[in-house]
Amino acid sequence: MPSPSRRSATAPASPIRRLYPLAAEAKRRGKKVYHLNIGQPDIPTPEEFLAGIRQAKLEVLAYSPSSGLPEAIQALQAYYAEWGITLAPDELLVTTGGSEAVLFSLNVTCDPGDEVLVPEPFYPNYNGFARLSEVELVPITTHREEGFHLPPRREIERLITPRTRAILFSNPGNPTGVVYRRQELEMLAQLALEHDLFLIADEVYREFVYQGEHLSVLSFPELSSHAIMVDSISKRLSACGARVGALACRNPQVMDAARRCAMARLSPPTLEQLGLVAFMAHPRHQEILRRMVDEYRARREVLWEELSQIPGVVCRKPEGAFYMMLGLPVQDAEDFIRYLLTDFPGEETVMLAPGEGFYKSPGLGRDEARIAYVLKEEDLRRACRALRAGLEAYQEVAGGTRV
Ligand SMILES: Cc1ncc(COP(=O)(O)O)c(C=O)c1O
Repeated sequence: MPSPSRRSATAPASPIRRLYPLAAEAKRRGKKVYHLNIGQPDIPTPEEFLAGIRQAKLEVLAYSPSSGLPEAIQALQAYYAEWGITLAPDELLVTTGGSEAVLFSLNVTCDPGDEVLVPEPFYPNYNGFARLSEVELVPITTHREEGFHLPPRREIERLITPRTRAILFSNPGNPTGVVYRRQELEMLAQLALEHDLFLIADEVYREFVYQGEHLSVLSFPELSSHAIMVDSISKRLSACGARVGALACRNPQVMDAARRCAMARLSPPTLEQLGLVAFMAHPRHQEILRRMVDEYRARREVLWEELSQIPGVVCRKPEGAFYMMLGLPVQDAEDFIRYLLTDFPGEETVMLAPGEGFYKSPGLGRDEARIAYVLKEEDLRRACRALRAGLEAYQEVAGGTRV
């Protein structure tokens, strides 16, 4: 029997999804499982977006142009203009989710064996994209006690080798909730210019900022050749299934290469682009986005209030996105999360994502878990109470060291 490639075989399973079979089994046994493991928001997708799909008058559901429907590109231009970012149509590409924009970014900046620096903990799907592109991710370790802000420039600079091609980061950060300050972005900009590196900024959580302000990599004029921005409507429009994202860059060579990647996959989803067009044409779209963010701001407060009452849990209030990395009073967070889904006797339980999978450096994150606060207030409170009860029960079973 022919075996699959080594490249695909070593692409890691997502730590966010890996324990799903245990959750499914718990549900079969009649247990209520609160999912705080995945950034799948429960907020209804705005009707203004869905109406654009429902009202589409199409005889043929055709491919869109590879770079996106012209009206979708215009809608994106209008959206970025609201953030003070002016982009020409050929500086934008509609992608199949932010995921494809990350994959294209790696493919247009790196050759096999090249290295990309990435602050860890990081969004674990970057590992899969890097494997498929045969790119080596080199972690810049950040720490919970420092709110996962960047280390000093010298610590980053010493990781740069002749093979380094780019620095990839999400801002606001998944899984950390960090929002980079102006000085941090200026430091990255300087490094990019001095070492001629691309800066790939994954800004899919742009709106979700509760402390500080969001600065796009595209707002640095000196980076016009070096900055690539990855974006998505998945989170801001609570439309993860739409699979509409964007890649933006002012470097014509990069855009030319990205457009050729886009041609190879023919087209991003046509109907959902029409949803985006309708949403952006709606006079109240900014208000709808604001309300979405307000909901997460309120959830962040609820989560903070509940977690502060759990003995031994260590965390900082996240500045943005809708995630939090928390330290747990256990030796092995994955073992604890498995326990919550298997042996914990409570009627209600909670699923978290084990922290280790968000790190590249071996051994880091073993006592951490990521929470996605994507549930409404009441469910979030119940989930936190299940977490507290679960921790108490786990510690009783084996003093917190069940392994
Ligand atoms: C940081 C980050 N980038 C990219 C993505 C992928 O987004 P999309 O659904 O648009 O592919 C996610 C999804 O959770 C994310 O958290």
